[in-house]
Amino acid sequence: MRVLSVVGARPQFVKAVAVSQQLEGDHEELLVHTGQHYDAELSEVFFDELALPEPAYHLGVGSAPHAAQTAEMMTELERIVDAESPDVVLVYGDTNSTLAGALVAAKSSPLLAHVEAGLRSHDRSMPEETNRRLTDHCSDVLFAPGPHAKRTLEAEGISENVYVPGDVMYDTLLQIRERLGGGPTGEPAVPDEYVLATVHRAKNTDDRERLAGIVDALTRLATPVVFPAHPRTVDSLHEHGLWEQLTADVRVIDPVSYTEFIELVEGAHCVATDSGGVQKEAFYLDTPCVTLRDATEWTETVDAGWNELVGATPERIVDAVRAAENPPSKPDLYGNGNAAARIVTHLEHHVG
Ligand code: UD1
Ligand code: UDP
Repeated sequence: MRVLSVVGARPQFVKAVAVSQQLEGDHEELLVHTGQHYDAELSEVFFDELALPEPAYHLGVGSAPHAAQTAEMMTELERIVDAESPDVVLVYGDTNSTLAGALVAAKSSPLLAHVEAGLRSHDRSMPEETNRRLTDHCSDVLFAPGPHAKRTLEAEGISENVYVPGDVMYDTLLQIRERLGGGPTGEPAVPDEYVLATVHRAKNTDDRERLAGIVDALTRLATPVVFPAHPRTVDSLHEHGLWEQLTADVRVIDPVSYTEFIELVEGAHCVATDSGGVQKEAFYLDTPCVTLRDATEWTETVDAGWNELVGATPERIVDAVRAAENPPSKPDLYGNGNAAARIVTHLEHHVG
């Protein structure tokens, strides 16, 4: 089987690790890096640390408004898909790189397979919601992380070739921890008790009021905050005049490597985040999670009481972080860490 995998942004590198390992040996994988993320700490660090295959193609697209970025990726991807004739185009998640890969594959002969299908936040103001809906609706094979996502697809009229292998990010987490013997190589020095914060959603960074609300909350927690900041967030903090409002208790650091990040999640008293992946990592690592959004696509974590949605209102954030505690028992929501193997088996069946 010849698989062309499209990645481009940080979460996709983490997701692709597990599937790439399963493809290795019996199948041929061509990894295409769109270049959506290009700073070393958002891209290269994952290739170095997680032993992802070298990209066969690097499109070097970089940052641009949505249409320009997606169009440039599509132009290049179409040429590559035509030249390489893969059996399958594999796309992950909900970024512009996902959508570009999906639209190209849908109009070419290979099968289009979507990993993380069926997720919905129902918040159309987030570009990811558009990306994931469109990708699902033009995919040939859909891999849902849990039964709820499968039901969502059914409700939208997609019921053929939908599988529930579990969450590939859980696979990656288990694999990397095992490979490293449970410890990272050089995590940043952190206080004994801290809250881990990540913020990068356009809705939070581009809206001054929301970003100010989050900054206000983080500075009022009375617990040290470790804040590995996405470059767009650092830019927005400066642009909106909020950088100066950060107190010494809020330790803004550069984005960290995957193993360092996982170690930070595990050691935190609580995670305050607007990330998709980090909500699940907190769940897997038993760290209470407070989500700085009005809606999430990982709804099961909220329904189970393992995640609290608080938006960007300072009082709600502060109260939730202070009271953060997980329920006594943890449900099995997204499989048992063998999603990638199951995905490859299903793909083999479809390719024949
Ligand atoms: C993208 C995804 C988002 C995902 C996130 C993961 C879309 C629409 N958004 O958001 O779903 O959660 O990645 O981190 O696909 N920048 C840099 N260096 C880089 C990359 C970006 O400085 O290597 C800055 C640029 O100013 C750029 C901005 O970040 O304009 C936004 O980058 P972009 O890739 O458009 O979106 P993300 O916010 O990273
Ligand atoms: N991550 C990391 N270092 C960081 C922040 C995040 O290694 O400083 C990892 C983490 O595993 C996370 C993944 O990158 O799940 C994707 O992160 P991000 O929040 O950027 O994307 P999202 O999941 O929101 O699309």
